[in-house]
Amino acid sequence: MPHSRTPQTFRVKSFGCQMNVYDGERMGELLAEQGLRAAAEDEDADLVVLNTCHIREKAAEKVYSDIGRLKKTDGRPPMIAVAGCVAQAEGEEIMARAPAVSMVVGPQAYHRLPQLVQAAAQGRRSTDTDMPAATKFAALPERRRTGASAFLTIQEGCDKFCTYCVVPYTRGAEISRPFDDLLQEAEKLVENGAREITLLGQNVNAWTGNDGAQPLAFDHLIREIAKLPEIKRIRYTTSHPNDVTEGLIRAHGEIEKLMPFLHLPVQSGSDRVLKAMNRSHTSDSYLRLIERFRAARPDIAISGDFIVGFPGETDAEFEETLQLIDEVGYAQAFSFKYSPRPGTPAAAMEGQLPREVMDERLQRLQTALNRDQIAFNQASTGKRCKVLVERKGKKPGQWLGKSPWLQSVFFEGDVKIGDMVQVELAEAGPNSIHGRLLETVPA
Ligand code: SAH
Ligand code: SF4
Ligand code: F3S
Repeated sequence: MPHSRTPQTFRVKSFGCQMNVYDGERMGELLAEQGLRAAAEDEDADLVVLNTCHIREKAAEKVYSDIGRLKKTDGRPPMIAVAGCVAQAEGEEIMARAPAVSMVVGPQAYHRLPQLVQAAAQGRRSTDTDMPAATKFAALPERRRTGASAFLTIQEGCDKFCTYCVVPYTRGAEISRPFDDLLQEAEKLVENGAREITLLGQNVNAWTGNDGAQPLAFDHLIREIAKLPEIKRIRYTTSHPNDVTEGLIRAHGEIEKLMPFLHLPVQSGSDRVLKAMNRSHTSDSYLRLIERFRAARPDIAISGDFIVGFPGETDAEFEETLQLIDEVGYAQAFSFKYSPRPGTPAAAMEGQLPREVMDERLQRLQTALNRDQIAFNQASTGKRCKVLVERKGKKPGQWLGKSPWLQSVFFEGDVKIGDMVQVELAEAGPNSIHGRLLETVPA
C-alpha cells in the first residue's frame, strides 16, 4: 500500500554517476527548502528517494531489491520515490511491479518532486518523466551544499548514440546550461565553502554558451571560473574524444587551477569494435589526442572507461585493447562487462558473448589496469604536491584529500576541511597514498 501522510524527514540514495549524485544533492536541497529534514539513517526517513542508474543491467535490477528492503524503525514502509535514469526508462513498469512506490520522477523532472510528494501524501501515485532539462534548472532553489569539493552540472544529455548506451534515451538531447547561471551557481558554492569545482556533463566539452553577444566554448568557461579567487582547483568529467578542442588542450598548459587529470573514455582498442559501437574515433586518433594533452601538460594523469565483450569482439580485438592500455599507461580507469540494454542497437546485434568470455577478458583487462595504477602511484612517491583537505580519515588525527592527479591522499596533522596543504607523497598503495604534511598553504 502506498504511504499516505506528509513526510517530515527524507533520505536521498544515489546509485549512479557523478551527475546522478549531483541530482541527488539538488533533490535534497529542494526537499529541505520545503521544510523536510535530512534523516541520519534510512530507517529514520519518512520519504526515501531512490536515485537510480540504468547504465548496466545490474544497476537497474538493484532498484527492485532496494524497494523490498526499505522499512522504518517502527516497521512501516516509508514513502518511496524512484528517481534517476531507471525511473525515466522504466517508469510505468516500476509503477506496475512495485505497489510500494508512490512516485516515479525522471532526471529532467525532479524539480516537481514537492508536488508529487504532496499528491502521495493524499494517497495519489504519480509518474513524471517529462524531458525539458532547461526548465528543471530554472525551477530549482539555490545551492545549500557545503563542502570543500563540489559538483556542478554544466551540460546534460547526449547526442552521440553509442550503440550500447542508454544515456541518450534517459537524459535526452544535449543541452548546455547558460553561462551566467553557471557562474552564479559556482559563486554560491564558493560562498558555502567550495574550493574545488568539478564540472559535470555527459560530454562536458560539448558545452557552449555566450557572454553577451560573444560565443563561449568549454575552455572559456573554465577560464572564467578560474577567475574566482576562492576557487583553487577545477576538474571536469566526462569528456568525449570527438569534442576535444585545441582550446581545451591549451587550457591544460595555461590554467594553473585546472588539474592535470583527464578522464577520456575509449571503450576499446579495436577500430572494428569502435565502429560497431558508433564511437566515431579510432584507437589511433585517441592516442594522438592523448599525445597532444601530454605535450601541453606533461604530468597529466590519464583515466578511461572500457567495455569488454561487446557483441562480436574477437580474442584478437580484445588484445588490441590490451595493447592500447600498454601504450597509454593509465593512472586509473573503469572497466565493465558489456551489458545489453533494452532498446539499444547493440542489444540486437549478432555475436553476443557468453559470460565466461567476458569474465576472463575483464579479469585480464583489470590486471593490466591495476598494474598501471600501482605503477603510477609508486612513481608519485617522493613528489611534493598540494592536497585539498576534504574530510576526516578513519583514524583520529587523520585527514583525506586528493592530489592534483586525483589520487586519494591520507595524512596526519593539525588542519581543517578546505585547507590547501603541501604534502610529500610518502608511501603508495594501490588505491591511496600516505602523505607527510609539510605545511598549510595560505588560501
Ligand atoms: N558520457 C560518458 C559515459 C557515460 S556512461 C562518455 O561517453 O564518456 C559511463 C561508462 O559506462 C561508459 O563510458 C562505458 O564504459 C560504460 N557503459 C555504458 N553503457 C554500457 C553498457 N551497455 N555495458 C557496459 N558498460 C557500459
Ligand atoms: Fe553513452 Fe556514448 Fe553518450 Fe557517452 S557518448 S553517454 S557512452 S552514448
Ligand atoms: Fe547511470 Fe544515468 Fe548516470 S544511467 S551513469 S545515472 S546518466
